[in-house]
Amino acid sequence: VSGAKVERLPLSRFTTLGVGGEAEVWTVSDHEQLREAMEASYRILGGGSNLVVADAGLGERVIRLGGEFAETDLEAAPDSTPEHFVSGWVGGGVPLPGLLRKLRGLGLSGLEGTVGVPAQVGGAVWMNAGTRFGEMFDGLFELEIAAPGGVRQLSPSDLPWGYRHSAIPRNHIVTRIRLKLSRSTPETVGAKMEQADLARKGQPKMRTPGCAFKNPGGVSAGKLIDEAGLKGQQIGQAMISPEHANFIVNLGGAAASDVHALLALIRQRVGIQMELEYELWP
Ligand code: FAD
Ligand code: EPU
Repeated sequence: VSGAKVERLPLSRFTTLGVGGEAEVWTVSDHEQLREAMEASYRILGGGSNLVVADAGLGERVIRLGGEFAETDLEAAPDSTPEHFVSGWVGGGVPLPGLLRKLRGLGLSGLEGTVGVPAQVGGAVWMNAGTRFGEMFDGLFELEIAAPGGVRQLSPSDLPWGYRHSAIPRNHIVTRIRLKLSRSTPETVGAKMEQADLARKGQPKMRTPGCAFKNPGGVSAGKLIDEAGLKGQQIGQAMISPEHANFIVNLGGAAASDVHALLALIRQRVGIQMELEYELWP
């Protein structure tokens, strides 16, 4: 045994929605432990900020990135130039909000648009999280991806990406990345972050997995759900937020099935096809 920490735990503890039954959680701290964890059917968990996990839990292993995958090297790498800063490796398990605070302090610009996204670096890269002010791939220089077939390093130009999407296959694990950012000042970076954060003023401060649906054709899904008259609709302890209709919130003790029922109601009542942004496990 290589020494990964294996525990049976409720996944509600690891999701921002606060919902989810038990699974075998493998916390890995290096590539050897990760290889072993990937030997049976698995899912990779990041910050749990885009997940609705079934109350019955999961039969598959759930892998969490710790140890060397939670380290941050923000020393300037030799690829850096007077204009551009290229970082050392930043682990896929690093919380994005803390990384952004460090970039602000160092006056490094490029990822300000992702401020307020409560993800881990790997999860944010996998789905190219962001806002209209910018997204994760804006600041990428290199990625390392692990899959059962092995580990490879690649450039973002090897992978098509777009709005809330990258071509990284499901269950290929973003183990670490290197950033390419512009040299600026803490004041300028801070001002850009504050501007992006202002757009979140109308979002609920409750337990939620973020926006339920991607915006169809650039129209706000929240606006469509609002116009369908669904704000404040409640099923069990889950509710469509009265503040922003694309957020389903947990009033305390919500079940995954309550959230599923609200998603079905939204689909039935909004006439336009909308793609789910969350992941439903399983
Ligand atoms: P998780 O929720 O843990 O997992 C989501 C998916 O990513 C799963 O398929 C998982 O397997 C995969 N994944 C996780 N880690 C890795 C990894 N290391 N390698 C490969 N795949 C991985 N999103 C936005 O884009 N913009 C926003 O403005 C935004 N605002 C939000 C506000 C709130 C309050 C909340 C709760 C969420 C918000 N989100 C937003 C949604 C969420 O933060 C993003 O979808 C984020 O990318 C999820 O990352 P995570 O690490 O939490 O992934
Ligand atoms: N609106 C309504 N009613 C609502 C919600 C919104 O009328 O219930 C209107 C607003 O008044 C505004 C417009 O719709 O005129 C757009 O709303 P907002 O600025 O909140 O943006 P959004 O498109 O609804 C997007 C992202 C968020 C991101 C914010 C801020 C998607 C699906 N959503 O929301 O991302 O935080 O912009 O940058 O792209 C997420 O992906 O999880 C997420 C939270």
